[in-house]
Amino acid sequence: MRLSPNYRHQPAFIPQTPKQMSDRFPAIRITMLPKDTNASGTIFGGVILSYIDLAGGIEARRQSPKKFVTKAMHEVVFVAPVHLGDLVTFYTRTVRMGRTSITVDVEVEAERLGLGGTKETVRVTEAEVIYVAVDENGHPIPIKAS
Ligand SMILES: CC(C)(COP(=O)(O)OP(=O)(O)OC[C@H]1O[C@@H](n2cnc3c(N)ncnc32)[C@H](O)[C@@H]1OP(=O)(O)O)[C@@H](O)C(=O)NCCC(=O)NCCS
Repeated sequence: MRLSPNYRHQPAFIPQTPKQMSDRFPAIRITMLPKDTNASGTIFGGVILSYIDLAGGIEARRQSPKKFVTKAMHEVVFVAPVHLGDLVTFYTRTVRMGRTSITVDVEVEAERLGLGGTKETVRVTEAEVIYVAVDENGHPIPIKAS
């Protein structure tokens, strides 16, 4: 995603247009800590899955101020490990707005510092997550008022 020079000065609430819906949004950026590691010292996959779900939920809420529950998470394939200290970004993009559901694509990238001040960005995984808007009884409701 290219950021405009005025990006930092944009208001917190940005009205959604079809073009903006196709741009990816850095929903979560977080540094991985020792509490997130598995027995081998790399980051536990379940931690990343949890952040994918959270990031997708943030994207759903950006699109509609409803209560959403996670309905499905399609195949998640980890193509590279995440290391302790990596700065991990969860980019989200709304790919489908249904009647009661929103489908969000979540891309995960890890930014890693190397020796001598080098920096590399590693693609970790990508997932498609489906959220359903529900009422106070947990029943699906339309996302857009008719
Ligand atoms: C979410 C829930 C209310 C939906 O109930 P449901 O009977 O499946 O509802 P529907 O069949 O009407 O489907 C709702 C929407 O989900 C979509 N959907 C259902 N199953 C799907 C699947 N496997 N993949 C993708 N979309 C799916 C439907 O297409 C529909 O979307 P649309 O209205 O935009 O076309 C219910 O399944 C539920 O409460 N699940 C548990 C949610 C939860 O607790 N998640 C956290 C787990 S810890």
